[in-house]
Amino acid sequence: MVARSAHWRNLGRSRTSSRQARRGWEEAARDWNRFVETREDHHRWELHGPALIRTVGQVKGLRVLDLGCGQGWFSRELASRGARVTGLDWSAQQIAIAKEHERKRRGKIEYVCADAVRITQRWPSRSFDLVTSCMSFMDMPRLDKVLSGACRLLKPGGRLVFSVSHPMNTAPGAHWLRKRIGHHGPWLVDGYFEEGPYDVVWSLRGTSRVMRVPQWHRTFAGWFELFHNSRLGVTRVWEPRPTTLQARRIAGFEGARRVPYYLIFEAKPTTLGRAARVAVERSRSE
Ligand SMILES: C[S@@+](CC[C@H](N)C(=O)[O-])C[C@H]1O[C@@H](n2cnc3c(N)ncnc32)[C@H](O)[C@@H]1O
Repeated sequence: MVARSAHWRNLGRSRTSSRQARRGWEEAARDWNRFVETREDHHRWELHGPALIRTVGQVKGLRVLDLGCGQGWFSRELASRGARVTGLDWSAQQIAIAKEHERKRRGKIEYVCADAVRITQRWPSRSFDLVTSCMSFMDMPRLDKVLSGACRLLKPGGRLVFSVSHPMNTAPGAHWLRKRIGHHGPWLVDGYFEEGPYDVVWSLRGTSRVMRVPQWHRTFAGWFELFHNSRLGVTRVWEPRPTTLQARRIAGFEGARRVPYYLIFEAKPTTLGRAARVAVERSRSE
């Protein structure tokens, strides 16, 4: 999930409703904010966050929609680089905190409390230059609908850039065989092909919060199939890795040097014809 500095364990496969999915984020909003702002979330500040920022590149003057923005950390990163940002999250609590931050910094980010599956009802087609998401897409029910909506909202030449937990990490049986600070045993991946939503329980370091939210595990091919079906073509993929210096300095990063925790994707809407679709379907059935 977002930060491997937090601990999580799988409870087993379950069908989750959108209401359940939203509730976990509502209840944890204050502690989530503390986790982010006190920098206990090392992975965001030092690993996947900088990688996502590098992948979006120059954003000055761009109109950006940040989906699943939470308390607005990534929206502010974009705005501080000159983007005109709209942040969207379905948790009223997360949005309230994001707005508090915005008032304090006297910024101009617009925040919207809504379900990301409904974005096309809110904005006309071709409204944004860039759609982003920082560690939220693996938490979203009906992501196929969110992605096709994002495609429609992009202007010609627009991009979708986002970070998610790596499939090697979200696989239901994935865990360190031994874990002590500064020394990890081998990383075991099991259940890799068991795609679907899982209840994940994890504690936020620096807070007493134990939170329970559903997370969708997809295989690497599963992600690509989703893009294909949403008519998105992947233009870049990045597996961020800490430097040796970071691994020495930050507790838990030694593991992140050996095992990919995160994936960053850059994708663009395509006009894939039927031939390409048939090719994918054939390769899947073999
Ligand atoms: C792991 S948090 C990440 C938040 C933020 N991007 C960050 O970097 O801290 C996932 C966020 O996605 C939001 N979310 C999940 N599903 C959503 C949906 N369908 N529509 C809007 N927001 C959603 C949750 O409320 C939560 O704030």
